[in-house]
Amino acid sequence: MKNKEPIILLVVIFFTLVTYYLVEPFAHSQMHKHVESEGFEYADLPAMTKTGDAAKGQELVMNAGCAGCHSIEVAGMPAPMDAVMAAGAYGVNPPDLSNAGAVFDPKFLADLIKNPAHALKVEHKYDPAAGKMHPMVAFYGMGGDIDQEVADMVAYLQSIAVKKEELTPKVAFETACGRCHAVGYEEWTQIGEKPKFKHEKDSLAFDIKVIDYQDSLMKYMGKLPPDLSMYIRSRGEHYISTFVENPQNQLHGTAMPRVGVTPHSMEKVIEYLEDAGDTKRHEREAIGKNVMIYIIIFAIFALLWKKQVWRDLH
Ligand code: HEC
Ligand code: HEC
Repeated sequence: MKNKEPIILLVVIFFTLVTYYLVEPFAHSQMHKHVESEGFEYADLPAMTKTGDAAKGQELVMNAGCAGCHSIEVAGMPAPMDAVMAAGAYGVNPPDLSNAGAVFDPKFLADLIKNPAHALKVEHKYDPAAGKMHPMVAFYGMGGDIDQEVADMVAYLQSIAVKKEELTPKVAFETACGRCHAVGYEEWTQIGEKPKFKHEKDSLAFDIKVIDYQDSLMKYMGKLPPDLSMYIRSRGEHYISTFVENPQNQLHGTAMPRVGVTPHSMEKVIEYLEDAGDTKRHEREAIGKNVMIYIIIFAIFALLWKKQVWRDLH
């Protein structure tokens, strides 16, 4: 009877390890294939051949009507309509362009201006031949050399944007992701940061606007983009970066566009997500400590109790 116990123990350990292997590393490797980053080089997009002139670009951006859909706050151009109305019209609120020149790759911006669905890698959803146009209207040129005109616009966007070193995680996230993804841990909603309201009524009114916005977004994307508060912990930095670099690589046919961030602004976005995913860290650590203290005290009592029981038996 006695010598059976080690065998039972070994069997239990064996099955525990097999189960662990199947649930953790094996299932993980099956669910997410490992994708290597291409360094955010966007090798499929044509290189820019012209040097842009920011002053000419400013005029072109005004004439091309970018500000008819986008706000450019640093240039004193407010949003033509509020976020909820914009989402009603376009499916999503076009992002503020103040820092687009710092967040997005120049080659990507040039391609985006000429052919949004192509740069964003959502041509599987938009086919002009079938009358399905991307909500961002393509720029067909002002009569000059279109590549020169586009280079000028990109130069203008770069000239008004913050310097690379001054780009904050928040601005990077809001410009590249914030129109689609909420981050509840940071009070970020798709229509902006939720203010601290004094009255419940105002808070509810804000929530209703968010729901209206999300309704339009859901129709546009086919599903509601997930809240990203926990993604840095559940998916990790490598997955998120390579996913953003080319969403189609990991989720073929997905509605999430390739947003065209530079490697530097991707780092900033990751920093934002790390700050968000870890706001509860200190709380968690404090709870962990308390649990440890509880277990130690409990163990001491258990030991004392055991001693007492055995003393009486001997
Ligand atoms: C135009 C809207 C849009 C923008 C902008 C956008 N996303 Fe998404 N994102 C989506 C949608 C839609 C999904 C759901 C994809 C699916 O399940 O097909 C998604 C899914 C994700 C996922 C989950 C992927 C998974 O495996 O489940 C991550 C992570 C993510 N996005 C990160 C980002 C980051 C970071 C940015 C900014 C750099 C960003 N997204 C910008 C629409 C967007
Ligand atoms: C008819 C409205 C409209 C016009 C005009 C327009 N855009 Fe957009 N733009 C949009 C919408 C809508 C989106 C968001 C698309 C999405 O997320 O799927 C967008 C997205 C963008 C983005 C973000 C792309 C990314 O990768 O996240 C940039 C940058 C941009 N537009 C620049 C411009 C510039 C520069 C012009 C002028 C040449 C312009 N837009 C004209 C509607 C417009």
